[in-house]
Amino acid sequence: MSRTVYVNGEFVAEENAKVSIFDRGYLFADGVYEVTAIIDGKMIDFDYHMERLSRSLRQIALDIPVTIDELRTIHHELMARNNLSNGMIYMHITRGVADRNFTYPENARSTLIAFTQQANLVNPPHAETGVKVATIPDIRWARRDIKSIALLPQAMGKQAAYEKGAYEGWMVEDGLVTEGTSSTAYIVKGAVITTRPLSNSILAGVTRRTLLTLAQETNITIEQRPFTVKEALAADEAFITSASTLVLPVVEIDSHKIGTGRPGPVTRKMRETYIKTAREG
Ligand code: PDD
Repeated sequence: MSRTVYVNGEFVAEENAKVSIFDRGYLFADGVYEVTAIIDGKMIDFDYHMERLSRSLRQIALDIPVTIDELRTIHHELMARNNLSNGMIYMHITRGVADRNFTYPENARSTLIAFTQQANLVNPPHAETGVKVATIPDIRWARRDIKSIALLPQAMGKQAAYEKGAYEGWMVEDGLVTEGTSSTAYIVKGAVITTRPLSNSILAGVTRRTLLTLAQETNITIEQRPFTVKEALAADEAFITSASTLVLPVVEIDSHKIGTGRPGPVTRKMRETYIKTAREG
């Protein structure tokens, strides 16, 4: 069934949604994006997504003529028009339409598009079984903190992982795991969760932000430091987080079983707590 999507101030049927071939998003990947999870008709961590979006926009010196409240209304309207109860809303903003020229155009109006995508975030089969991860080299740029729409390295990485039978690729730089191609990476040893600290080397995951708060409230220790692939292979548990996976157990890395090869207790607890909080919050 055709969705209703949002393009520059209008809600239109997806087959009628059009953006110019001169859009700088298309020509230069000159834009930033957000993906917000929807659970039971509720937007999860929306304020954090908007905070990160504002930061990404500032980092690329892109002013937009819409307020956060208007963005919130667009999200609500998309959910309503598409009867979306569970899934995601993707939204991106580019520097707009201009003749192809590397420097920023003076008078271009930014392009804003958004659409819904249905997904069973709470009960997908792989949340029970856990997923496999393959390590791949991190070939990305030096500003991974910006949620840029330039995702070719991640698409290449996810494809390479997929061809090895894995669900996600963990990108590795100098022997250390940076993050998943579209998720944050974690390992668990005993009752300690380890994840890489924030820097320009990774995206500041919104799900990560909430997870760290929840872990603290649950008296689970979090260590924010880089970890090696070797450490990950020797971990008791591993998992990923993102708006599209929530907290998802990882049971195999590069064909090595992690722990028992089944989702572990810390991961299960964090997934349950995350979903419960999202539903109640
Ligand atoms: N990706 N790291 C990278 C490289 C990501 O692309 C994402 C999210 C995350 C997790 O961020 P969050 O918890 O805010 O979703 C970490 C989204 C889901 C995507 O590109 O579809």
